[in-house]
Amino acid sequence: MSVGAMRTGEKGHAVSPADFRAACGLFPSGVTVVTRRSPDGGAYGMTVSSFTSVSLHPPLILVCIDKRAGLVLQLGHPEYFAVNILSEEQQDLAVRFSAFPEKKRFDGLRWSEGWRGVPLIDGVVASLACSKEEAIEAGDHYVLVGRVKEIRQHPGRALVWCESRYHCLPTPPDSTRD
Ligand SMILES: Cc1cc2nc3c(=O)[nH]c(=O)nc-3n(C[C@H](O)[C@H](O)[C@H](O)COP(=O)(O)O)c2cc1C
Repeated sequence: MSVGAMRTGEKGHAVSPADFRAACGLFPSGVTVVTRRSPDGGAYGMTVSSFTSVSLHPPLILVCIDKRAGLVLQLGHPEYFAVNILSEEQQDLAVRFSAFPEKKRFDGLRWSEGWRGVPLIDGVVASLACSKEEAIEAGDHYVLVGRVKEIRQHPGRALVWCESRYHCLPTPPDSTRD
């Protein structure tokens, strides 16, 4: 479809998955790795860009998780999980946690335990350890709402995902210079 063209689909309301994906992909987001412990005590993680804050009082966030993802399908809905916001130096981790076999994703990676043992990845700009507040079924995904129990923040800038590519934010002008 050419830029500027409008496509509404048959009878003005059917939308093709390709058009839907392309339009939503224009909206920039950060990149996170959502982590949890598996029932055998191991660490699990997957790359997730569908993260947003929901409420301040109480502090709630959400992520949208494909129903086929190991996070929910193989392991069952997590009671506790963490959202690790990747830094612009961690593009390799976005690839690792979306493309590597599940059991190899933590190989050689530095991480520590947060609230209730959730895996917090070193070098991220922020980690939010959460308890599951709600898991809402929405089409082929679950909207997983988490109540934030612990926050760790580190210096650095977030990696950006837009139009199916990773980006780094431009360096802001130095406000201390005249
Ligand atoms: C940049 C990026 C963002 C992604 N965002 C999401 C997302 O928000 N929700 C989701 O379910 N999968 C998302 N994925 C896909 C999952 O990371 C991928 O399917 C992963 O393999 C799922 O884990 P599993 O193999 O353990 O099932 C994203 C992948 C990439 C590369």
